[in-house]
Amino acid sequence: MNQLDKKSQAWSALFSEPMSELVKRYTASVFFDKRLWQADIQGSLAHAGMLAAQGIIAPEDLTAIEKGMAQIAQEISSGRFEWKLDLEDVHLNIEARLTQLAGDAGKRLHTGRSRNDQVATDIRLWLRDEIDLVSALLDDLQKALLEMADRNVEVILPGFTHLQVAQPVSFGHHMLAYVEMFSRDAERMADVRRRVNLLPLGAAALAGTSYPLDREMVARSLGMDGVCQNSLDAVSDRDFAIEFAAAASLAMVHLSRLSEELILWMSQNFGFIEIADRFTTGSSIMPQKKNPDVPELARGKTGRVVGHLMGLITLMKGQPLAYNKDNQEDKEPLFDTVDTLKDTLRIFTEMVGGITVKPEAMEKAALKGYATATDLADYLVKKGLPFRDAHETVARAVKAAMSQQVGLAELPLAVLKQFNVAIENDVYNVLSLRGSMNARSTLGGTAPGQVRAQVARHRARLAQRP
Ligand code: ARG
Repeated sequence: MNQLDKKSQAWSALFSEPMSELVKRYTASVFFDKRLWQADIQGSLAHAGMLAAQGIIAPEDLTAIEKGMAQIAQEISSGRFEWKLDLEDVHLNIEARLTQLAGDAGKRLHTGRSRNDQVATDIRLWLRDEIDLVSALLDDLQKALLEMADRNVEVILPGFTHLQVAQPVSFGHHMLAYVEMFSRDAERMADVRRRVNLLPLGAAALAGTSYPLDREMVARSLGMDGVCQNSLDAVSDRDFAIEFAAAASLAMVHLSRLSEELILWMSQNFGFIEIADRFTTGSSIMPQKKNPDVPELARGKTGRVVGHLMGLITLMKGQPLAYNKDNQEDKEPLFDTVDTLKDTLRIFTEMVGGITVKPEAMEKAALKGYATATDLADYLVKKGLPFRDAHETVARAVKAAMSQQVGLAELPLAVLKQFNVAIENDVYNVLSLRGSMNARSTLGGTAPGQVRAQVARHRARLAQRP
């Protein structure tokens, strides 16, 4: 039996009794961290290549390690690899198998390395690649929203504040608000990536190592942007994972806000949209129901991802330097955050493409809420009234219209004139939903010209991304 196989009994000659079964289960991570196997092998090969280049191991050792790792990769991807709880984690499992296959060369792999810098490297490699997938999915979702925006520039939606009808806005404009949010999420991912993509290897257990390692070479061969500059920090901090979870939480919060709107809009009370049947579910008792399960679940899963952020940040707070086993707890929340975010982004991209917009219902709702009252006030300001007085005048007009259960535009000119003599026939254009929307032409406003300019800007921006 080699040293690693004996681990179930004791770590080394130092221990006088085997680890209890309960402790073995409690401390093992292999059943979740085996997910890091590709990064683990990738990191080991880079390390071994450097050891050979530096003359720390022989070229034959490197060849044997490479051959063994190729077979291990084969075994794992085909499901034939036997993961052993006794070997605690992904690192020891792979190393033990390598030693079976490559003999002493396998035992030399761990020269100048510790599991502490190994695991930190593995998570960073894994997370870097996942960030790239998340970023691509964020782009896909933005593109789907952009198409939706472009098709609906002229569709009028009641814009809300306090969920009360406020002012008419272009439905395209509303969609572009989400494009802005998700573009910031993508920027945050790119920013986090810069700090994730640095190499801990070479920090060894905590203090660095006495072997003449070339850390820059390892970083280069792993496509990393540089090396961590302090060995204690390199093995112990997981702030990059926390940052990622924070960026992921914000993206989920944005998805959750969109979910909430979709749920409201497809309810009978709004009736603004329909989402494709494949994204809804029926009720086992009420035959008339189509429930928005997908957006509801996305809203629910947002709580779960925010929970992971809280878990990760709390994990870090009491830890003295340097590595502590606490850090093994970083993996499950991180994995679940990535899985949840990617699934939600994928499903939303598809779902957005399958939304049917109902412009008449939106317009009808906008007409109900005196959405152009501000326009009447602005009209009076242009006739010379101070804004506060205009505001008060319009409030009286709205009150009168409400008591007759009509819209402002349905009041005859003679009635409107009672509120202010300066009101003329041209007021009816101002009071129309379209007139109101078209008038809001400040940069970033809802006037169709502005919305089209923003669509073009986002298109050009997204076309530049690989
Ligand atoms: N499974 C461990 C983790 O995830 C690997 C590092 C273990 N290092 C140690 N000194 N026990 O953090």
